[in-house]
Amino acid sequence: MSNTTAAWFEDRIAAAVAPLLPGFMVEAVAEIDSTNSELMRRARAGRVEPVLLVAEHQTAGRGRLGRPWQSAPRQEESASLLFSLGLPLAPADWSGLSLAVGVSVAESLDPSGAHKVGLKWPNDVWVNECKLVGILIETALPANGRPDASRYLVIGIGINIGAREADGMRTPPAWLRQWHPEASAPEVLRELVLPLVESVLAFEAGGLAPFAERFAARDVLRGREVVLSDDTAGLCEGVAWGGELQVRTDAGLKLISSDEVSVRPRGMAL
Ligand code: BTN
Repeated sequence: MSNTTAAWFEDRIAAAVAPLLPGFMVEAVAEIDSTNSELMRRARAGRVEPVLLVAEHQTAGRGRLGRPWQSAPRQEESASLLFSLGLPLAPADWSGLSLAVGVSVAESLDPSGAHKVGLKWPNDVWVNECKLVGILIETALPANGRPDASRYLVIGIGINIGAREADGMRTPPAWLRQWHPEASAPEVLRELVLPLVESVLAFEAGGLAPFAERFAARDVLRGREVVLSDDTAGLCEGVAWGGELQVRTDAGLKLISSDEVSVRPRGMAL
């Protein structure tokens, strides 16, 4: 890890969040392998404090389904926002957490929906069939000294701020400066963190219910023919109360709950 070059509002973000998460800290680094990997390593070593780790560059960024996550090249200052939020959490039921996180991020980036920022199950943030945000959620062993149901949760978020080449990406990229030319990674982070923490704590208290209609309002798959990586194909009927994707197939309604499955509108490569 080396020192950061940008101003990341660490103290202001920490002060805003600390009333909700006592002891909350913000750390910014210039470079790291992966902010998720670092918080997972710390958790395995018993460090389970609430923390936000932001990096200007990642050398081994990770995405869902074991895929790499590529961010903007090093010379393009502030063109990607890369961070992970880590905290102990003990919801009664974990299912649907990734949807709640997606809702929070999409609403922060496009509160009114004017820019058509949508959600592709379980938690990709899309604009006009292009990917603006990727979210990787992981949990580590039960947090020290906490009730058994508690685990250390790591929510990793990558947001394209500046223009990106599509080079080899499965889904072409969208970026925030397409409609918000002055957007900077530190400003976006500052806007996003408090609502994200509030959403995670609301999920811990009340599950997916407070988020279900908000997800539906931005669901880019509902009403479309979809194809899944497990060969399921059919009409997407939106998301069920447990956060499962509902697909009407020839054999009836199928509920997809595994985050290990990827889904596409028919016609887009898996
Ligand atoms: C995906 O869409 O596949 C999820 C991408 C998640 C990327 C972010 S960038 C910050 C954090 N650190 C990582 O290594 N991954 C997440």
